[in-house]
Amino acid sequence: MKHGLTPLLAALGVLLFAVGCAGGDPPEIDCDTATVKGYAELGEAFAYCTQCHGATRADEGIALHTYELAVEHASRSERSIANGSMPPDETMPESLETDFYTWAQCGTPP
Ligand code: HEC
Repeated sequence: MKHGLTPLLAALGVLLFAVGCAGGDPPEIDCDTATVKGYAELGEAFAYCTQCHGATRADEGIALHTYELAVEHASRSERSIANGSMPPDETMPESLETDFYTWAQCGTPP
């Protein structure tokens, strides 16, 4: 019984670490060196969103099909992508995720 607690605490630590990673924040982008693509170039990334957040359907009241709307929801959107909740049923290629984070953090250019 004396030594029973240590492995339990270790397991708990690993579990907390794993949960922490799953709910991750977006990686911080260095805007001085990053290639920043404008909204007009991010069609492939937003295509993962607009079927549910667009002109005909706006889940959670969020639509992302115009530049203005996308800017309004930019930081919430990048957090949802980073923590893995959006898109819910698909996995975006990492390069598109990076394009999205870069756009959201480096001035959301058109
Ligand atoms: C299959 C439909 C679907 C797709 C595709 C989808 N979403 Fe969502 N989204 C939802 C639903 C449903 C909710 C509300 C429930 C929830 O949060 O899971 C939501 C919630 C959100 C929220 C609010 C979360 C919060 O609490 O801050 C944001 C921001 C968001 N989505 C952004 C995106 C982005 C960005 C994409 C594309 C990368 C995307 N969604 C793709 C269905 C979708």
